[in-house]
Amino acid sequence: MELERHIRTIPDFPRPGILFRDITPLLGEPAAFRAALDGLTERAQAAGPGAVVGIESRGFLFGAPIADRLGLPFVPIRKEGKLPAARLTVEYALEYGESRLDIHQDALAPGTAAFIVDDVLATGGTALAAAKLVELLGARVAGMGFLIELEGLGGRERLGAYRVDALIRFREG
Ligand code: PRP
Ligand code: MG
Repeated sequence: MELERHIRTIPDFPRPGILFRDITPLLGEPAAFRAALDGLTERAQAAGPGAVVGIESRGFLFGAPIADRLGLPFVPIRKEGKLPAARLTVEYALEYGESRLDIHQDALAPGTAAFIVDDVLATGGTALAAAKLVELLGARVAGMGFLIELEGLGGRERLGAYRVDALIRFREG
């Protein structure tokens, strides 16, 4: 299946000059959503993880069903201030300003191989912050899976130390 046919491109959203890659048509087409989950699940399985980590919020749409399919624990990484129990936080750069991501301290046992899932890899800042959280817990990153990789924004280069897979590539830069 040509998954990219189910991604809608919206110019000038959320700001002038940005081409927004909208995944809602894919989510709304059951065969396409299933094919995307099949593809990402295969990549996750190949990395041999003991847990699947999803990044709020769009990463949850893919990470949770992949964990279910593999019979693995699902671990949410959330935007700052949403997780109730003892947590670790890392700061990461956005295009403008900065943001923070949290993980529960007991979310991954030391040594666990974690597969990180998100919808889009752009600059790689979000995924790198997620990887730092995994490693702060003493777990390791078995790999990362994205529905879409935006090439030309330096994401893959920034994540150079990690195994990175994407189902769809768009050249942006
Ligand atoms: C988007 C996207 C990725 C991230 C990619 O999330 O879902 O998580 O940006 O960008 P990066 O590679 O440059 O870090 P966003 O922060 O917009 O939030 P959302 O998932 O809650 O919509
Ligand atoms: Mg996101």
